[in-house]
Amino acid sequence: MAQNARLDKEYIMHAPQRGEALVCLTAYTTPVAKALDPHCDLLLVGDSLGMVVYGMDNPLGVSLEMMINHGKAVMRGVKHAFVVVDMPYGSYETDADLAVKNARRVMDETGCDAIKIEGGAEMLDIYQALADASIPTLAHIGLKPQSVEKEGGYKIKGKSDDEGLSLLTDAQLIEKTGVIAIVIEGTIESVARRIVDGVSVPTIGIGASAACAGQILVSDDMLGLFTDHVPKFVKQYAQLAQNIDEAAAAYAREVRARDFPADAHIYKRAS
Ligand code: KIV
Repeated sequence: MAQNARLDKEYIMHAPQRGEALVCLTAYTTPVAKALDPHCDLLLVGDSLGMVVYGMDNPLGVSLEMMINHGKAVMRGVKHAFVVVDMPYGSYETDADLAVKNARRVMDETGCDAIKIEGGAEMLDIYQALADASIPTLAHIGLKPQSVEKEGGYKIKGKSDDEGLSLLTDAQLIEKTGVIAIVIEGTIESVARRIVDGVSVPTIGIGASAACAGQILVSDDMLGLFTDHVPKFVKQYAQLAQNIDEAAAAYAREVRARDFPADAHIYKRAS
């Protein structure tokens, strides 16, 4: 599809039939969204921004207002990709009416294309309520960052037969509610493959092997900007933290040596 036409729900949903891999990354700001947009099918304004932008330990402190503000910023930079905004912890999981009200607010105020929520079969009523309200939704199953505190840390899912089967059941039940795609995070390859074979909507993997129809990474991880913890599934395609360190060191050196600003950076009266 032309780079200046916005991708729609049908384009994302039919990726498995086309046999094309969906290229997905997170974005939180306008300049980064602009840089990623021509290369990506889908940009996710993930609540991972709590950690990579705000320095929080987990996403639990991320508010709806933060997601809306970053959603608006990303939408300003996008001409092509399908944009999804994460619903933050506490904004949807306990009450279907609240989930619909908050999801509608995110869609209306940001202009994004869809929202994403975390949860499997235990969240079926919420997925159904969002579908009944015609809110385009992505599911997120497997390792769910909003549950890591409750579960005592980041743990790979599906290692036992029971857990693998329960993930497949989650995916199949959720698919029936009409979700656009299912993000599978942190599971073993054989389980990911069974889910991919067991559903017809696209699966988007993060730490879930190449079996998935698409891949997503947190862009700050992939760009080597967030380096506090680099999970096994991350490949760094750049070393931005190192580039920033080198640039800041060069700037500091030149300011201290009074080499910056030089003549080229100084305003003068026209002669
Ligand atoms: O918040 C996030 O960034 C996510 C991932 C799928 C990358 O949910």
